[in-house]
Amino acid sequence: MSRNIVVTGAASGIGKATAELLASRGDTVITVDLRDADITADLTDDAAIAQVVEQITERTGGTLDGLVANAGVSANNELSLLVNYFGTVALIEGLRPLLAKSEAPRISVTSSAATLQGNDPELVDLLLAGDRDAAVERGKALAAQSQAGYANYSSSKRAISRWVRRVAPTADYAGAGIGINAVGPGQVRTAMTAELLSTEEGRKMVEAAMPSPYGGPAEAVDIAEVHAFLVSPGNARMTGQVVFVDSGFDAVSRGDDIWS
Ligand SMILES: NC(=O)c1ccc[n+]([C@@H]2O[C@H](COP(=O)([O-])OP(=O)(O)OC[C@H]3O[C@@H](n4cnc5c(N)ncnc54)[C@H](O)[C@@H]3O)[C@@H](O)[C@H]2O)c1
Repeated sequence: MSRNIVVTGAASGIGKATAELLASRGDTVITVDLRDADITADLTDDAAIAQVVEQITERTGGTLDGLVANAGVSANNELSLLVNYFGTVALIEGLRPLLAKSEAPRISVTSSAATLQGNDPELVDLLLAGDRDAAVERGKALAAQSQAGYANYSSSKRAISRWVRRVAPTADYAGAGIGINAVGPGQVRTAMTAELLSTEEGRKMVEAAMPSPYGGPAEAVDIAEVHAFLVSPGNARMTGQVVFVDSGFDAVSRGDDIWS
């Protein structure tokens, strides 16, 4: 049976590969992006998000089966907070009533293996508290110290991974039959990383920060395969998980005993 699935950030990279894979498997895919999409919108803008929800309601008749919340940026400033955390949460929450009407509703979020890297705990707390103004202020202050700028990205991903785990077992999600998980990619060859991975120096730097012993950097379709499973009805009982698709980085960085 064809399912209606929304994919954000679908004009490029992981989102594009996911939209193509789902369509090839017979799903009806609605793409959302800043450009080259069924619905063009800036997901940092709450008014634009409300319009996206309206348009998806019209296109689907009010029932949505899946959402791949993937749009993101790797800016060393507060833009990472606005797209990767606030925009992602706002769209998921906006579409939740449509998902609750499906017989097998599923959400998959693109987080990052950066969840495991150094972050700014104060910023993560502000994000999880939904304090947009204070989070942006903190993000700007970190961006002003060049080394700490990356914490905008890693903190946005730590916060979205924690948010997914926080909401997954609640009445709004588990209670409504909505499975919600995140994928944590490691190094992936997309427009986001093209410049960095194009030089020997860049590749060495990324490999030192995020080792990839299992095959090196992934292709976008490697991540798409996991999203496609997570938003399928076949994913019957997995919820609240952050699935690292990271060429082995999690195992290298956290080791074998992560359950204590
Ligand atoms: N490439 C990697 O190595 C890597 C690793 C871990 C996680 N990720 C995550 O994967 C996701 C996809 O990234 P990608 O690597 O495919 O990069 P990409 O740059 O190829 O694609 C990102 C897409 O998101 C869209 N987008 C950005 N800001 C937006 C906004 N405000 N509103 C609507 N759309 C917006 C862009 O237009 C683009 O099409 C991101 O969340 C990123 O953080 C990527």
